[in-house]
Amino acid sequence: MQRSNMKVEEIKKIAQIGAGVMGHGIAQVAAMAGYDVALMDVSRAALDQAMKLINTSLSKLVEKKKITEEQKNAALGKIKPTTDLKEAVKDADYVIEAVFESLPLKKEIFMAMDDAAPEHAILASNTSTIPATLLADVTSRPEKVIDMHWFNPPPLMRLIEIMPGEKTSEETINVTVELSKKLGKTPIVLKKDVWGYVTSRMAISFLYEGAWDLQRGVAEPKEIDAAVRYKLGFPMGPFELADLTGIDIGREMDDIVEELSETHPKYVEGPVVRGPPIIKEYIEKGWHGMKSGRGFYEYPGPGVYKRVEIPEELKEKYDPTRFISTLVNVAAYLLRTEVSTRDDIDTMMKLGLGYPKGIFQFADELGVSKIVETLKDAKEKYGHDWYEPDPLLVEMAEAGKKFYE
Ligand SMILES: NC(=O)c1ccc[n+]([C@@H]2O[C@H](COP(=O)([O-])OP(=O)(O)OC[C@H]3O[C@@H](n4cnc5c(N)ncnc54)[C@H](O)[C@@H]3O)[C@@H](O)[C@H]2O)c1
Repeated sequence: MQRSNMKVEEIKKIAQIGAGVMGHGIAQVAAMAGYDVALMDVSRAALDQAMKLINTSLSKLVEKKKITEEQKNAALGKIKPTTDLKEAVKDADYVIEAVFESLPLKKEIFMAMDDAAPEHAILASNTSTIPATLLADVTSRPEKVIDMHWFNPPPLMRLIEIMPGEKTSEETINVTVELSKKLGKTPIVLKKDVWGYVTSRMAISFLYEGAWDLQRGVAEPKEIDAAVRYKLGFPMGPFELADLTGIDIGREMDDIVEELSETHPKYVEGPVVRGPPIIKEYIEKGWHGMKSGRGFYEYPGPGVYKRVEIPEELKEKYDPTRFISTLVNVAAYLLRTEVSTRDDIDTMMKLGLGYPKGIFQFADELGVSKIVETLKDAKEKYGHDWYEPDPLLVEMAEAGKKFYE
């Protein structure tokens, strides 16, 4: 029997499955908010590294006088590392999965979590792209499964993007919203599940649209990065950002798009910008970005995080109109199909992806007619489906409308 009317106050213990980049950060946030945390990973080395990183992060907060030594020790005392999934979830009220971005692996973990967790427990995934329904469907509690998308690094980033599946209950959505707030975050709930939420669809388009122009020989990485930084006002251009986050993360996303196109095409409808061949070449060569010492740029050595010098004058070598038009097209699809609202999409762009302003504000400044014209030209020239202007944009251009009147 499912227990109904679960309240956020009833959550005492959180199980964090996967202790990598995201998992260790989420565990830290939960422990700092006073929850008991079981931190589980198949790798003992990953757990040791996670505890070390949490310790270092908490020590920095003590140094900056944001927390006291007692608070640091209390948070550390709340986290129990384990390699045993059953042990981790058996008395958990809320479970957050953050293992590798692989649909078969996540399905396997969701089945195991469902078997071992108490009946009342909510099972959430920090997946970057997978629709919640696909994970819910392998469990006996689809109404208690939800996507809870954190941003990197979890202790610093405020946004949590929540994507319910088709069978997720209101109660599960409400508890996840309230829990996010208790963890000090700003939750935004999408109205339905799609591949890539709003933010990952937009993030991958940002990277790939730049990479396509490199592939086509339109401009060099530094020229595109300079225009995106200095003409559009983004904190980083697509190549700098890809080198920082890892060019290889796109491969996992591409694999999932490929799979869903075959098995569940409804989740990948709309403009989905695909990676150009150059991305695969870089991945095969092992040029994954700063972590491997070489990506679109060269670094002093693997894992040496050094910002690239992007001279402002290079901005004149690249016109970012098509770049931003492609992003507007993706966002217009998500708005028209009611995945999210204008205001929520714009808030997510700023809070989750560091946009200097909302994507629909960019759209208004450039003009919807200009965007439609640019997309039509690109469709004719390059043929890709994602350049087909969304009907919402076409209609707005015809009526002379803006997103913000
Ligand atoms: N890194 C980001 O910026 C980011 C942001 C938002 C969401 N995500 C998503 O979060 C998830 C985790 O990403 P990450 O960057 O932390 O990855 P990561 O590679 O740093 O960590 C994944 C961890 O999962 C562990 N793992 C693998 N199989 C397991 C299993 N069967 N049981 C338990 N643990 C297992 C690995 O040992 C590893 O420690 C992915 O779904 C990713 O798409 C990542």
